[in-house]
Amino acid sequence: MFQPPKTYPKSQAWFERASRVLSGGVSSQFRRGEPHPMFYERALGSRIWDADGNELLDFTLAQGPCILGYSHPELLSRVHAALQKGQLFAGQHEEEVLLAEALQRLIPCAERVRFSSTGSEAVHTTLRLARYLTGRAKFIKFEGHYHGWLDNVSFGVNAPAAGVSSGPAPWGGGLPESAREDVIVLPWNDLECVEKTLAQRGHEIGALITEPVMANQGCIEPAPGFLAGLRELCDRYGVLLIFDEIITGFRLDLGGAGRYYGVVPDLAVFGKALASGFPLSAVVGRAHAMKPLETGAVYHAGTLNGNHASVAAALATVEVLERDNGEALQQLCRTGVALQEGLREVAARVSPDFRVQGPGPLFHAGFSPHETVASFHETLTFDRPRYTLFCTKMLERGVRLIGRGLWYVSAAHSEADLEQALEAAEGALRERATAPRVA
Ligand SMILES: Cc1ncc(COP(=O)(O)O)c(C=O)c1O
Repeated sequence: MFQPPKTYPKSQAWFERASRVLSGGVSSQFRRGEPHPMFYERALGSRIWDADGNELLDFTLAQGPCILGYSHPELLSRVHAALQKGQLFAGQHEEEVLLAEALQRLIPCAERVRFSSTGSEAVHTTLRLARYLTGRAKFIKFEGHYHGWLDNVSFGVNAPAAGVSSGPAPWGGGLPESAREDVIVLPWNDLECVEKTLAQRGHEIGALITEPVMANQGCIEPAPGFLAGLRELCDRYGVLLIFDEIITGFRLDLGGAGRYYGVVPDLAVFGKALASGFPLSAVVGRAHAMKPLETGAVYHAGTLNGNHASVAAALATVEVLERDNGEALQQLCRTGVALQEGLREVAARVSPDFRVQGPGPLFHAGFSPHETVASFHETLTFDRPRYTLFCTKMLERGVRLIGRGLWYVSAAHSEADLEQALEAAEGALRERATAPRVA
């Protein structure tokens, strides 16, 4: 069987060279993983090859986007064909309309659509719309939810550092105090707390933004009635409800978590899987909420918005995922469920505190004393150093994982891939179970 080496000399050498020119040797904070940022050469289906020639079974899917697996042939040929016509016109083209029509058909709240390039800027657009429409400056977000890296959503993403007691923790330095004033951070899945806050301060609050599944911490699903409760409260207090579907969109359901859980927000943002790894995000919403973009009262722009390659990639993604009554999406959901069940069986034998939870096509794994991790507070019990070590042991066995515990499954993952992943997990957990505990 394929045995990758335990060191990655070429990746390491590239990282050293990169560190002299790229800040921190990377292009994104999230790539500063263990044992050091890795370099990759190519990827196909469920596999990726690193600079040292190691073949890795991949459950990162490039942090989620590659829902069809890497380098899907139909996707690449559609992108190639689109590029033959030119890369960007700074004007509209037919395919944007076809894609917007598809989103309108699939996503319950998508009466109108605007394209952007990244999730962060799409989120920014929705908050600006809400501020304009309500005349209220503040918005509610939830502890542990990530909505991109721009200023006013960069609070309450992680827990405050030890000793810091007041206010939501900033996600890194350089954030203006004024941005903190925009945001009220509340515990997720706690409807009573939302209700109390709106009753007291509803006149200041224009929007409530939520990941419909708390995917970025523990992959916690909404409590029964929670999303519907948010809908009702937002209606009662005249607040716009925004679903951040950057992770859940096209993954839980082609119509997003809104369709999956049967709750229709005023605005939603899609990205990641939407264009299978090409830079595209969409702001979608009910006509009244999108109206200021239509009238030009609120500005939204972007030189690269709706570029050919990304739109072609999204059209191909929709086509493949919708084919045969959505078989590809159903298949990857089944694969995700089977993988979770397999991991739980392995954990029961080898490491009972290895917890696996989440809906089918994405889930979280981590070490916690809690059988089910149900709140942001409980996610703080995850033993992160131990999970980092687990990821390193998985990498040595040829399986690439996201260090913070999220697993993504694609349409390209096969039963054989599952078996390989489970065998690797058993080995990694056994090794850990017998190793001395790291302090
Ligand atoms: C839920 C959520 N919202 C927004 C974003 C930001 O998207 P982008 O990285 O495309 O700016 C992310 C990125 O991981 C995300 O997970």
